Amino acid sequence: MTWDHIRIARFGGPDVLELVHESIMPEPGPGEVRLRVIAAGTGFTDSFIRRGRYPDFKGPLPFTPGYDLVGIVEQHGPGVTSPPIGQIVADLCVTGGYTQYAIRPANGLVPVPDGLDPAEAVCIPLAYLTAFQMLTRCQHLAPGATILVIGASGTVGTALLDLARALGLNAIGTCSAANMPIVERFGATAIDYRNGDFVAAVHRLTTISQGTSGVAAAFDAIGGPHFSRSFACLAQGGLLVGYGSQTMATGRESLLAAALGIARLKLWNSLSPLFGGRRACWYSITDRRKTHQDDFKSDMALLFQRLHNHTIHPTVIDRLPLAAAQTVHRRIDAGGLGGKIVLLP
Ligand SMILES: NC(=O)c1ccc[n+]([C@@H]2O[C@H](COP(=O)([O-])OP(=O)(O)OC[C@H]3O[C@@H](n4cnc5c(N)ncnc54)[C@H](OP(=O)(O)O)[C@@H]3O)[C@@H](O)[C@H]2O)c1
Repeated sequence: MTWDHIRIARFGGPDVLELVHESIMPEPGPGEVRLRVIAAGTGFTDSFIRRGRYPDFKGPLPFTPGYDLVGIVEQHGPGVTSPPIGQIVADLCVTGGYTQYAIRPANGLVPVPDGLDPAEAVCIPLAYLTAFQMLTRCQHLAPGATILVIGASGTVGTALLDLARALGLNAIGTCSAANMPIVERFGATAIDYRNGDFVAAVHRLTTISQGTSGVAAAFDAIGGPHFSRSFACLAQGGLLVGYGSQTMATGRESLLAAALGIARLKLWNSLSPLFGGRRACWYSITDRRKTHQDDFKSDMALLFQRLHNHTIHPTVIDRLPLAAAQTVHRRIDAGGLGGKIVLLP
């Protein structure tokens, strides 16, 4: 029996994604399971890795890309008894998702309740978990508070808006003009960041809606100098969560500019009293998983429960076969997708 996966043998543009056929089925080692993958998430972070610019993954080459997956446990390696054979599970694998079969450590897998759409379920491990932990683990936001989502039409951006609505928060989101309806669909107020100063717009909107200027929290993955503009949108006591360096990822800014952006977050936080109690932090899902493995699993289980109860609504914009990986990455690189494209291996 042959099986397929996507391979990257050199970093570069979407054309480095090749479909490869294998004839030998992979066998799980001690502590591992073999999964039959039924949904592989795609997103900007996969493109970041493909370009060879992602700080946490520089190889070895060749490798199979794919940050998150949902699959069925098909075979246990020595010493493994759980999750049981046949269980549907989700994983944040960082690489290795664009495949029909994956070998994964058993202890990192999270059960997916029966009856969920695998394409919606695969939106949880990266996009929704990142959004949920930034909203609930970095701070306490009372219902009615207003948040600012930079890049609100993106995969994590729409997850932040969806969860904000479920948590009773008000949201303002920046996006390009064509994507304003995507943001407004979640009940958020959209600002076209290419047309005018979004910092002034945020202060104007919050003064009108709540009588005080600025937001309780802002979420920014543009990074570098852009963090200063998001920090300037905060109300007194507000928190900026930086979680990406997108301009560095696309090559429009240097690694140094991205590093200075993260250094600024630390500086603002340590000098918070000088900035009206405004604070800042950096969030990374992979770093947090290393230090808070239990939260990682319990938060993901809670999000699957919310998906099951229909209180969150991930936006899956397309479902395509593995062979479409190059086309998918071209669409990701063009930007403004408004949701997640899922590969159904
Ligand atoms: N730290 C973590 O744990 C973590 C986890 C997941 C993702 N990330 C990072 O988060 C970022 C977003 O990921 P994603 O999957 O959501 O990407 P995505 O779907 O491509 O969304 C990014 C959005 O950013 C918007 N954008 C681009 N330039 C902008 C600007 N100058 N101002 C405002 N918006 C702008 C685009 O909106 P328009 O097209 O409307 O302009 C696009 O929809 C990536 O850098 C990713 O690596 C970090």
